[in-house]
Amino acid sequence: MRKLVIAISMLALAASAAFADPILDRQALMKERGKIVGGISKVVKGEEPFDAAAVLTQLQALQANAEKFDAAALFPAGSDTGDTTAAPKIWEDMAGFKATEDKYLADVKAATAAAPADVDTLKTQFGAMTSNCGTCHQTYRVKKG
Ligand code: HEC
Repeated sequence: MRKLVIAISMLALAASAAFADPILDRQALMKERGKIVGGISKVVKGEEPFDAAAVLTQLQALQANAEKFDAAALFPAGSDTGDTTAAPKIWEDMAGFKATEDKYLADVKAATAAAPADVDTLKTQFGAMTSNCGTCHQTYRVKKG
């Protein structure tokens, strides 16, 4: 019986290791980031009315997403190959990569802490936050296809 329990728990361990794919994890994190930003961008563009409470909820979600970013867990050595657009530059300049994400996180935190009360304030903060997407993608991502 005891042997069976051990065998089962070892199987479970092996399965969780197989499913913990850092490439999929980081892409899921980025997809979520893109989705939240897409929602806020509708307000910025005037496609949706400005609602301070709803905007704050979205900013908090964006901050939670940014706080989940763990470069060591999501970009471990060896995860530069496969179905990924992560550029080799990430592993050549991990400090610079982390600093780029830290700058992004700081801008998101500032926007959340300020809790924008009108769309013009949101626009300024949105511009500051999203400029980091392009900065990082240009340096640390390769275009495929
Ligand atoms: C510190 C760097 C960094 C910042 C900042 C950053 N990204 Fe990314 N992003 C990446 C990297 C690296 C990838 C490629 C991941 C892979 O394919 O393994 C990526 C991929 C993506 C993807 C594609 C995910 C997929 O399905 O393959 C989306 C969408 C995305 N980012 C959106 C955003 C948005 C929106 C922002 C800003 C609000 C942002 N990112 C900020 C580094 C960053």
